[in-house]
Amino acid sequence: MKVLVTGGCGFLGSHVCAYYRKLGWDVISYDSMTKYELARTGFNINLARKHNWNLLSDLGVDLQEKDIQNFDDLIDSTKNCDFIVHAAAQPAMTVSSEDPRLDFSTNVLGTFNVLEAARLTGAPIVSCSSIHVYGTGVNDTLTEQATRYTRTPASLDESHPTMTGTLTPLHASKKSGEEYALAYIDTYGVKAGIFRLTGLYGENQFGGEDHGWVAHFTISAMKGEPITLFGNGKQVRDIIYANDVCEAIHAFYNNQRPGIYNIGAGEENSISLLECIDYLKELTGREVHYSFGGERLGDLKYFICDTSKAEKELGFKPSVAPKEGIKRLLTWVENNRDMFFA
Ligand SMILES: NC(=O)c1ccc[n+]([C@@H]2O[C@H](COP(=O)([O-])OP(=O)(O)OC[C@H]3O[C@@H](n4cnc5c(N)ncnc54)[C@H](O)[C@@H]3O)[C@@H](O)[C@H]2O)c1
Repeated sequence: MKVLVTGGCGFLGSHVCAYYRKLGWDVISYDSMTKYELARTGFNINLARKHNWNLLSDLGVDLQEKDIQNFDDLIDSTKNCDFIVHAAAQPAMTVSSEDPRLDFSTNVLGTFNVLEAARLTGAPIVSCSSIHVYGTGVNDTLTEQATRYTRTPASLDESHPTMTGTLTPLHASKKSGEEYALAYIDTYGVKAGIFRLTGLYGENQFGGEDHGWVAHFTISAMKGEPITLFGNGKQVRDIIYANDVCEAIHAFYNNQRPGIYNIGAGEENSISLLECIDYLKELTGREVHYSFGGERLGDLKYFICDTSKAEKELGFKPSVAPKEGIKRLLTWVENNRDMFFA
């Protein structure tokens, strides 16, 4: 069996590649290695860029440094693949408003190309979207508690209206990717799973202020650097450990029921930014310094996935709770200290 993972050297992609190697599949990582976001993290870019590449190389992954915008390359690489996982993206809200053309060409044209490859090869595909497509308007009925917001109902399912409230180019590009995938399901019968992912975290994540907040907080805690909380820190997410997402992806492969799925970890695995900082204090035994900054355009204050559709149709249930997952992430960060200092 053979899977092609776009963005295979990114955070989620690296976990997907490792997961399928463990199952004994042939794996292609198809990644342009732009690592655009690393330029602004203050990490040692050379070490960080190579980390996931070296890891996957040791696991026997076929590493292809190629761009999803190049359709000829893509169709060539997807030949004879049994499955495609599309995890390449421009994933950051901030970058999308600073460079909307990059956001469009990566997330819209790139996703279109990957769907075309799925159509022409006949391979089923999981295409990564984001809970951001629901928009910021879902914050409307929030109640403020000491360290978090609450909302009734606590979680929202896939039928909730999308693109609500103030939008950024990232909302538009991720939603366009979804619309194309839906059209390809209807028109061509492509077996596409559109995964609306909540906040992901885990090893191999080079989180910064722009993207990957759990990793950003963990790395900052290890470095003793202050964290800026944009807003009041009571923002709530259900966060999902990367290997759980891999389980969901494989559950889709096994069932191949096309459509949109919220892939999150549910209310019992939800935390606020302030609670995450408390976890890190507990785990490191050190003070974690933070201050408050202004709210940012497009940020969601509260979102928890109702994951009953993924559970019912794919048989998927997450298994790693935030405390355990953050502990594993912290261990990885501490074992790779050199990468996080420029
Ligand atoms: N990390 C999260 O919390 C989160 C939350 C919701 C949704 N998502 C979605 O999950 C997916 C994976 O996110 P991630 O956190 O692993 O991102 P990431 O930035 O770690 O990885 C993306 C990878 O895509 C590659 N890439 C970028 N442009 C490319 C191009 N034109 N051609 C080929 N490769 C290219 C990058 O080099 C990078 O390795 C994305 O679709 C993202 O929107 C992530």
